[in-house]
Amino acid sequence: MSRKERIAVYPGSFDPVTWGHLDIVSRASRLFDRVIIAVAKNPLKKPAFTAAERMDMITRSLRGLPLGRPVKVARFDGLLVHYCRKVGARAVIRGLRAVSDFEAEFQMALMNRHLAREVETVYLMPDQRFVYLSSNLVKEVARLGGELDAFVPPFVKSRLLHRKDRG
Ligand code: PNS
Repeated sequence: MSRKERIAVYPGSFDPVTWGHLDIVSRASRLFDRVIIAVAKNPLKKPAFTAAERMDMITRSLRGLPLGRPVKVARFDGLLVHYCRKVGARAVIRGLRAVSDFEAEFQMALMNRHLAREVETVYLMPDQRFVYLSSNLVKEVARLGGELDAFVPPFVKSRLLHRKDRG
């Protein structure tokens, strides 16, 4: 790793990845030399998909996506700032959709700053088409038989439908 390389970590549950997440990835890849999408192995909420499944959906969704610089998919456990230090990242990327995201994000950013002063959190706003989108809403729409194409890539859609079939 070159010392001059600007590495950003984009952490999240990605349960599952949506077009909104991918829009943020694409924007971040134009700002940083390398972006690592870091899938939280055990997020607080019990995930619908395993970490391996979530990583696989992201990897497949990245194919064909307009990216500025290389994007890697990894998983992490434990504190985010410890992971950032391990991979040499000085920036954490988070998407900010609406005012309702702000309080939790503000708390998280300041806690992470307290834990690691050298790591800066950078917020990016998704395209307005994705402002109301969340993985939880997508799972609900999938469960109730709604149209998913505007929210997730085709592979993720098929995984959601397959999951629904399993009950
Ligand atoms: O997609 P999400 O669920 O909003 O992502 C939240 C996530 C996984 C980024 C956050 O919970 C996290 O960083 N977890 C790792 C544990 C940690 O570092 N906690 C202290 C930060 S406040």
